[in-house]
Amino acid sequence: MTIQTVATRPFNGQRPGTSGLRKKVTEFQTPGYLENFVEAIFTTLGDCAGMTLVLGGDGRFFNRTAIQTILRMAAAHGVRKVFVGRGGLLSTPAVSCVIRKRHANGGIVLSASHNPGGPHGDFGIKFNIENGGPAPEKITEAIYANTQTLHSYHISDAPEVDIDRIGAARVEQMEVEVIDPVADYAGLMARLFDFDAIRGLFARGFTMRFDGMHAASGPYARAIIEGMLGAPAGTVINGEPLEDFGGHHPDPNPVNAAELIALMSGPDAPDFGAASDGDGDRNMILGRQLAVTPSDSLAIIAANASVAPGYRDGLAGIARSMPTSTAADRVAEALGIACYETPTGWKYFGNLMDAGLATLCGEESYGTGSSHIREKDGVWAVLFWLNILAATGKSVNELVREHWARFGRNYYSRHDYEAVEVMAAEDVMMALRRRLPAFTRQAFDGYRVALADDFSYSDPVDQSVASHQGVRIIMDDGSRIVFRLSGTGTEGATVRLYLERYESNPARLDLDTQEALAALVAIAEQVSGLKRRTGREGPSVIT
Ligand code: G6P
Ligand code: ZN
Repeated sequence: MTIQTVATRPFNGQRPGTSGLRKKVTEFQTPGYLENFVEAIFTTLGDCAGMTLVLGGDGRFFNRTAIQTILRMAAAHGVRKVFVGRGGLLSTPAVSCVIRKRHANGGIVLSASHNPGGPHGDFGIKFNIENGGPAPEKITEAIYANTQTLHSYHISDAPEVDIDRIGAARVEQMEVEVIDPVADYAGLMARLFDFDAIRGLFARGFTMRFDGMHAASGPYARAIIEGMLGAPAGTVINGEPLEDFGGHHPDPNPVNAAELIALMSGPDAPDFGAASDGDGDRNMILGRQLAVTPSDSLAIIAANASVAPGYRDGLAGIARSMPTSTAADRVAEALGIACYETPTGWKYFGNLMDAGLATLCGEESYGTGSSHIREKDGVWAVLFWLNILAATGKSVNELVREHWARFGRNYYSRHDYEAVEVMAAEDVMMALRRRLPAFTRQAFDGYRVALADDFSYSDPVDQSVASHQGVRIIMDDGSRIVFRLSGTGTEGATVRLYLERYESNPARLDLDTQEALAALVAIAEQVSGLKRRTGREGPSVIT
């Protein structure tokens, strides 16, 4: 075994987005493309001697190849030890859990999250730091800068490691330990939630479907929900991770999880439905004929958190991304705790959790989590709901309706304009930014603007500032229109339009969401010319 130095040249476009570097698999297959990015990670880490890392991915196509390459490169950089999930599998939350539990210096997650997989799909790589969370911007920017200046990378020519067998191996001097991908994580869940109560629920005949979408969360859901909690076999569907996710789009929203939605709307609907995404960090919560919005889910979990043993002592605070509805703010107010508003991207929650300011965090993009790890966590959210259902004896529908009756309802929807021309998307944002000052106090069809700005966040812990995080138009009654460009797309640009209307009148809590938001949709078009500028007749996806 020898360590080679291979000459290379920088590639364009290796700047990590909202959640790591995501590109087409074919781009990652370009000789040197993956290696350059990994070299840039190691250069950013500096002296790797004595370091322990965690490595795993969502099992998508190219996962195994990338793992072998990264192991050989880690060895060449003097890393002491790498924990790898068996089969190369570790969900994003499990990586975060393993980093923390085993006191690793960081981890590499191979995933493009909910983006489709397979030879023509997407691949991705992100670096997590020693708190278990996504690397903050100063690190991802340093990684990017290093991708632009490197001339060579270092790699061992050692043979492949057998990653399908639990146990120890070596690459050069580096120790590789292949671990059960589920065990550490399942142990943590058993400490946070009342497994006895949930077992009792299933024993009484409670029915559920968890859709693993042929992605990373399946094995976790099977081991915990069917294994430890005694739900009948078949509760977890599509539980086998596949390299192309069975050709589906592993994004748990009502559009992509159509099969589950159909089941939950039909006559044989189980009591509870849930799904997770490609790398297991997102979740969707469903009752009979009811899809709980992620923003409501965060608020309802917050309002009922104390039923779970891990949260019995109360919450330090709640944090939500700016476009997420303000439903959680109302719960925070009732609980007398702070609610933080951060830019989109789970990484912005890290400091708040590390500093003990926030316990629960959530995003409109089907992400919910807490300070138990530093990533959002799909299976965790589902277990939290199970714990609440078991402890209260109420149905999902009852919990949601009682929540609205108490706090009011935040009608909420996101309209995505996907794969539009980059220039057109930037035009929309530029035009909005130019007109922002003129919006303030302006009246539109039943609404008056209280505040219009380009969201800027100043981190209360390290005072770092993130600006241009999305255009917000907030009305006098708290209703909001938000525009931003997605940071996770791999084709053209995606414009996201987020709409929220607050309603406290008990007689108006049961409107159709899109109807309730129609006036705001019209105002959004009036101020942005989104359809006109992108040449679209309407959004490509509505969630
Ligand atoms: C990933 C991140 C989330 C983020 C989401 C949407 O899932 O982990 O934190 O909310 O992407 O990002 P986007 O920039 O596409 O709206
Ligand atoms: Zn994900």
